[in-house]
Amino acid sequence: MWIPDETLERVRSQVNIVDVVSQFVQLKKQGKNLFGYCPFHDERTPSFSVREEKQLFHCFSCGRGGNVFTFLMELEGLSFPEAVLKVAELAAVEIDPAIQAQQQQQKPAADTKQGKLLNLYEWTSEFYHHILLNTTTGEEALNYLLERGLTRETIKQFRLGYSPPQRVALKQYLSGKADYENALLKESGLFSDRSDDELLDRFSNRIIFPIRNRQGQIIAFSGRKFLEGEGEQANIPKYLNSPETALFNKSTVLFNYDSARSSIRREGMVILFEGFMDVISAWQAGVKNGVASMGTSLTEEQIHLLDKVTDSIVIAYDGDTPGMEAAKRATDFLTEKSHFAVEVVLFPEKSDPDDYIKNKGPEAFKELLAHGRETLIGFLMRYHRLSLNLNNESDQLTYIEQILKEMIRVPSAIEREMYFQQLAEEFQLPIDTLKEQFHQYLQAFQRKRTQERKQEFDTQKQEAPVIPQVRKQVRSLNPLEKAERLLLYRLFHHPEILGKLHSQPEPFQFANEDSQLLFMLFESYAAEATEPRVDGFIDYIKERELKEKVTEIELMSVSEEFNDEEVEDCIKRINQASLYHQLEDSKKAMQEASRTGDLDTQRTLMMEIVKLTRQLKNN
Ligand code: CTP
Ligand code: MN
Repeated sequence: MWIPDETLERVRSQVNIVDVVSQFVQLKKQGKNLFGYCPFHDERTPSFSVREEKQLFHCFSCGRGGNVFTFLMELEGLSFPEAVLKVAELAAVEIDPAIQAQQQQQKPAADTKQGKLLNLYEWTSEFYHHILLNTTTGEEALNYLLERGLTRETIKQFRLGYSPPQRVALKQYLSGKADYENALLKESGLFSDRSDDELLDRFSNRIIFPIRNRQGQIIAFSGRKFLEGEGEQANIPKYLNSPETALFNKSTVLFNYDSARSSIRREGMVILFEGFMDVISAWQAGVKNGVASMGTSLTEEQIHLLDKVTDSIVIAYDGDTPGMEAAKRATDFLTEKSHFAVEVVLFPEKSDPDDYIKNKGPEAFKELLAHGRETLIGFLMRYHRLSLNLNNESDQLTYIEQILKEMIRVPSAIEREMYFQQLAEEFQLPIDTLKEQFHQYLQAFQRKRTQERKQEFDTQKQEAPVIPQVRKQVRSLNPLEKAERLLLYRLFHHPEILGKLHSQPEPFQFANEDSQLLFMLFESYAAEATEPRVDGFIDYIKERELKEKVTEIELMSVSEEFNDEEVEDCIKRINQASLYHQLEDSKKAMQEASRTGDLDTQRTLMMEIVKLTRQLKNN
């Protein structure tokens, strides 16, 4: 695929890198830069930065950097043209439909196993979806969904499907599509594990929920039974998921994350539901920032996905006892493992979000989400009361102790003060006594935590070698490197300097190999480009390390004004260093030549050394 220059320029000039990056990373303003957690590696302090005026990003920790296209290429593994189209889409820049069509014909790289699986799931999803919407076989399942209140639009949005009861349907359909090897079909998880030879549909007679990864590619399915029936139907599990495959690991996936991501950013929070149906009904009701784990407790990987886009989470679980227990587990885990601000909405009368929407309507649902949220401690107070009888004095004491301990998780002193007052009033206790007790708990907790950290650190030291996440140490540059970078910076902004470099008495050369390479690349780029610019140059370079170096150079704090003197000075320094390197090399070669007694070479080298020494002196 090829993107015309005119289109490329239009995308470039209309997009703002901040808008695009913001859909993946939560950015906060800090001086000239916006900072956030780097999406390319795990980190505890934000070292990923975006400089809006330069339209570049750079991570101070891992060294990754580039422009908006580089960002998507790296993050989502896209090719350059793919990245351009994706940027256009994210920034709502209109693109010639012909170019888009060209793009859509390109299915994922079909020659790798992963590519084959992605294609296979794409076909499979299309098959199930078609059966649900357009066939008599799918009628019963479709009616079930429509009766539950889903619209056709929603069914299409989530690409829900139905897998027919004849357990050979999928295999037959796929045979007509491509020549998939049996081994791959077995690995796909689409077929039953039990049958050895015959490939029988795993999900037969179920409503199908495609599971997408964070790039929006289908990587698995979940199938829900929908006939409550007797006999066989009564005993099978309600949901059946794809097994683990090369592409799917359920503890790292959040249902609907890919499409919720931009709303999560916009709304400044994510809503965590228990089930797929809750996410889907909420979406239909206009709440698009909902996700759900795959029927399991939240994992660190999932928290990490959310951490990238927001710092506020609302847990919206069923109002029944299991829902309450699950919410308690989630809040414990979240406060221990992350810095999320956590709030809870439990749906009244033991209903789940989906029932609630159906019974009370979308507006009431949105109202409850907006104004019916409990604070973390508010929820925990209710939770602990459930198992206690507060008319009983010893239960009262247990309750107060439990709440004071939970309050360790509340970072805000004002909020804590509120709870102290609340407890003091309810149980007729002096507030100072409560505070004193709280501080004892707090200290004990902190001691324990320090101890644990220390142990963790000690075992790390003994057992596992610490794998450095930092690819490049931030180091200070020596004067030569500084001069090279400054000269390159000027060159990128004032290509006319090329003329000056070409008219040097001796052919000009950078001392550092990367710099020399960038210089040569820039020469050829400048010869081709109508209007050479750093942004375009980054796209011109193929190699990642070099792109990163250009980004670093572009982000140096350099005064915008420059003069000939400064450039001359850089050239002089670099020349000197280059001459010095050459001289060192010649001297070494000389030693070698005299060791082997090669007189001819010795003579040539001698002349070279004399010449270089003279040049060095004159420079
Ligand atoms: N789940 C599962 N296996 C089951 C039951 C549930 O994996 N046998 C998971 C599913 O991911 C489901 C989630 O747990 O979405 C929550 O379960 P539940 O509330 O029972 O399902 P809903 O999504 O609410 O579905 P429905 O309303 O259709 O019952
Ligand atoms: Mn439900």
